[in-house]
Amino acid sequence: MEIEEHLIAAIEAANKAGAFLLEQESSSSLEIKEKHDNDYVTSADGASERLIIEHLRKFFPDERFFGEEGGAEERGGSAGRWIIDPIDGTTNFFRGLPNYTVSIAWELEPFKPLVGVVYNPRQKELFHAAQGLGAWCGEHRLAVSSISDPGKALLVCVPPHRRHDSAREYFATMERIFFATSDLRSFGSAALELSYIAAGRLDGYYERFLGYYDIAAGMAILQEAGGTIAPANDSLPFSDMECDVIASNGLLQTWMERTIRNH
Ligand code: IPD
Ligand code: CA
Ligand code: CA
Repeated sequence: MEIEEHLIAAIEAANKAGAFLLEQESSSSLEIKEKHDNDYVTSADGASERLIIEHLRKFFPDERFFGEEGGAEERGGSAGRWIIDPIDGTTNFFRGLPNYTVSIAWELEPFKPLVGVVYNPRQKELFHAAQGLGAWCGEHRLAVSSISDPGKALLVCVPPHRRHDSAREYFATMERIFFATSDLRSFGSAALELSYIAAGRLDGYYERFLGYYDIAAGMAILQEAGGTIAPANDSLPFSDMECDVIASNGLLQTWMERTIRNH
């Protein structure tokens, strides 16, 4: 089955990249650069992306690749497209924090990922999903939480660290969310946060100024576990380089959209 072949190849690529990143964490040759304000890249990001693409291309030579570091490829005779974030959580990675992931998604239609793999090599947790085949963490099938009362919810809100011009508006929104919910968290990897909602560990997520590579794999996993994800601004649909995101266990989606949009 086509979708299963893509899932297996993505899991293999994520495992290879994860093993590579564990070695790189303590490597004295690791280089760190600031791409833009508060936005970092290391020598391991590009190398991890190349390793993933090299693995996938062996099996799917006609498909297109869109990686955070290498950008979007136009060539390819097939409709299939891979979306790759070679390290989601680069700051965690080079600061020695465990919350970083390899994130790989595959789709046939834009912004409708059919396969998603998110691997956290430090914690040895591999989240994966394929449309119709369920969402899993290892052998454990994932399902979103059943929390529908915002007052009981544990949500992720991520301040716009690369866009300080939007911070005041953001903190006003965050204040409304904070007072209405149980507590807030932020783990530093969008792919991991979406996977945690899929696993029922968290109930909702709000972040702006993401790229599609940050969310594509987590989106496939979350949707397959029964969750929902939508553009934070209903007149700004997801695009490759701009995604403002509200995601949840589904039960909190309407409340989150109303609370975040009506300010
Ligand atoms: C970042 C992570 C983080 C989010 C940032 C992203 P990167 O990705 O997903 O959680 O808050 O906005 O840029 O740069 O580590 O791949
Ligand atoms: Ca990312
Ligand atoms: Ca990245």
